[in-house]
Amino acid sequence: MVCFRLSSAPGLGFVLFCLVLGVARSYALELNLTDSGKATCLYAKWQMNFTVRYEATNKTYKTVTISDLGTVTYNGSICGDDQNGPKIAVQFGSGFSWMVNFTKVSSLSSYSIDSISFSYNTSNKTTFPDAEDKGIVTVYDFPAIKIPLNVIFRCNSLLTLEKNSVVQHYWDVLVQAFVQNGTVSTKEYLCDKDKTSTTVTPIIHTTAPSPTTKPTPLEKPEIGTYSVNNTNGTCLLATMGLQLNITQDKVASVINIKPNSTEFTGSCHPQTALLRLNSSTIKYLDFVFAVKNENRFYLKEVNVSMYLVNGSVFRIANDNLSYWDAPLGSSYMCNKEQTVSVSGAFQINTFDLRVQPFNVMEGKYSTAQECSLDDDTILIPIIVGAGLSGLIIVIVIAYLIGRRKSYAGYQTL
Ligand SMILES: *[C@@H]1O[C@H](CO)[C@@H](O)[C@H](O)[C@H]1NC(C)=O
Ligand SMILES: *[C@@H]1O[C@H](CO)[C@@H](O)[C@H](O)[C@H]1NC(C)=O
Ligand SMILES: *[C@@H]1O[C@H](CO)[C@@H](O)[C@H](O)[C@H]1NC(C)=O
Ligand SMILES: *[C@@H]1O[C@H](CO)[C@@H](O)[C@H](O)[C@H]1NC(C)=O
Ligand SMILES: *[C@@H]1O[C@H](CO)[C@@H](O)[C@H](O)[C@H]1NC(C)=O
Ligand SMILES: *[C@@H]1O[C@H](CO)[C@@H](O)[C@H](O)[C@H]1NC(C)=O
Ligand SMILES: *[C@@H]1O[C@H](CO)[C@@H](O)[C@H](O)[C@H]1NC(C)=O
Ligand SMILES: *[C@@H]1O[C@H](CO)[C@@H](O)[C@H](O)[C@H]1NC(C)=O
Ligand SMILES: *[C@@H]1O[C@H](CO)[C@@H](O)[C@H](O)[C@H]1NC(C)=O
Ligand SMILES: *[C@@H]1O[C@H](CO)[C@@H](O)[C@H](O)[C@H]1NC(C)=O
Ligand SMILES: *[C@@H]1O[C@H](CO)[C@@H](O)[C@H](O)[C@H]1NC(C)=O
Ligand SMILES: *[C@@H]1O[C@H](CO)[C@@H](O)[C@H](O)[C@H]1NC(C)=O
Repeated sequence: MVCFRLSSAPGLGFVLFCLVLGVARSYALELNLTDSGKATCLYAKWQMNFTVRYEATNKTYKTVTISDLGTVTYNGSICGDDQNGPKIAVQFGSGFSWMVNFTKVSSLSSYSIDSISFSYNTSNKTTFPDAEDKGIVTVYDFPAIKIPLNVIFRCNSLLTLEKNSVVQHYWDVLVQAFVQNGTVSTKEYLCDKDKTSTTVTPIIHTTAPSPTTKPTPLEKPEIGTYSVNNTNGTCLLATMGLQLNITQDKVASVINIKPNSTEFTGSCHPQTALLRLNSSTIKYLDFVFAVKNENRFYLKEVNVSMYLVNGSVFRIANDNLSYWDAPLGSSYMCNKEQTVSVSGAFQINTFDLRVQPFNVMEGKYSTAQECSLDDDTILIPIIVGAGLSGLIIVIVIAYLIGRRKSYAGYQTL
């Protein structure tokens, strides 16, 4: 094991690097990054190799494999601070560089691998003979792996990323970012592939919601209030309890959205409005509203991207929906449970819903248009909704009732 200590940028203090030279043709990389107080802030050990395909001068393609990394330096690796997340930067061989950065998911108990980038320099004639284009090429990957805080992520299985003309292989990965109190955890969080390939029970101590392992919580979700402002004040209002129903491999997982750990943003335009929710597990959940016939609004589109516990991302989009339809200048209301079916695999159950995506005045809801499910007094919305023609019917009914005197009330409908 070769260890060397070097001084990094001023203010970052001392950084200690340990590099373990591995066996055979592959090198295990190891980084024990410490902060100014010499406490470990990030620990990683892993193996990787690359295959790069490039265009040669005579219009043919060549491949090079990079498995012997040669001399490795870790310049640019940082613990991170309030502005920047932690980062592992590695330089090796003839002008290769590799970088991964981590982001803490707002307010919560997990973090994710934000991006992995790999750069190579096709100018080197020894490594890339007869390369048509010479210069630095960088490929980015966004693996969206989510890891709970205070546990070490382990993945001995082979992970393959394929982007453009580069194939990246990773294996024997151990990583913990955002190490607290300088102590690398002994609790492991296994990647999905390891879970299925070993019989060892994974030690998962995660408080992160885990759609694939959690038993179905069938209690009603809490009601949240969400709003969007523009320069004129509040322009979109929504109050609702949300329950997501994800079906994967014929197994439905039901997740209640917790309003107090959910952030929201959005935008308002004359013809469309957006409400976007996000949390530790929900990368985004977008509700897009549109105007039709210049006098009504409706929920036109739902886009979702969620992290599942196995590190994979669940993504669904449907821009051809037609829910929550009401006249412009009013709000849409539905107290009973309603289902927005985004796809066969993704449904949203709503509770005590009230939404107004356009023409919000003084931050308050306008008159509500109720859904037909709230039908305890079904006559009232029908009559109100039917407007003038309804009034005529009522007059006719009243006339008939008047004529038949003994007949009781609404039964005629
Ligand atoms: C990392 O470095 C610190 C400080 O030198 C040391 O105390 C710690 O044991 C190291 N951790 C690992 C996992 O090598
Ligand atoms: C392209 O060049 C390589 C050597 O640089 C040669 O092996 C290959 O046969 C050439 N291909 C064609 C189609 O000329
Ligand atoms: C990269 O490593 C994997 C796993 O050890 C191995 O299967 C693969 O053949 C290697 N690829 C190259 C190009 O060395
Ligand atoms: C990395 O840092 C070391 C020591 O500061 C320096 O000698 C080396 O040239 C740097 N390497 C790169 C690729 O910047
Ligand atoms: C090109 O790569 C070879 C092999 O990695 C290396 O020995 C050589 O120094 C590199 N040339 C330049 C100009 O960087
Ligand atoms: C991570 O790196 C990517 C690509 O270099 C960059 O776009 C992104 O902003 C970085 N994220 C963080 C949190 O620094
Ligand atoms: C790419 O490699 C060539 C030759 O090895 C070198 O002259 C050039 O400076 C390198 N480019 C960069 C941006 O490092
Ligand atoms: C770090 O130390 C603080 C204070 O001693 C303690 O409350 C916290 O639980 C520790 N965190 C971990 C992950 O050990
Ligand atoms: C704000 O209100 C003014 C006056 O009602 C209107 O002209 C303007 O378009 C509004 N701005 C936005 C962003 O809605
Ligand atoms: C939106 O504007 C209202 C007043 O119009 C204000 O009370 C509220 O705090 C604002 N919300 C945000 C998120 O800025
Ligand atoms: C979730 O979706 C599945 C499949 O569409 C359905 O069978 C199940 O009843 C739904 N559960 C809830 C609570 O909505
Ligand atoms: C969120 O709400 C729950 C239950 O209502 C409460 O126990 C918890 O403290 C709240 N969390 C925050 C961050 O407000």
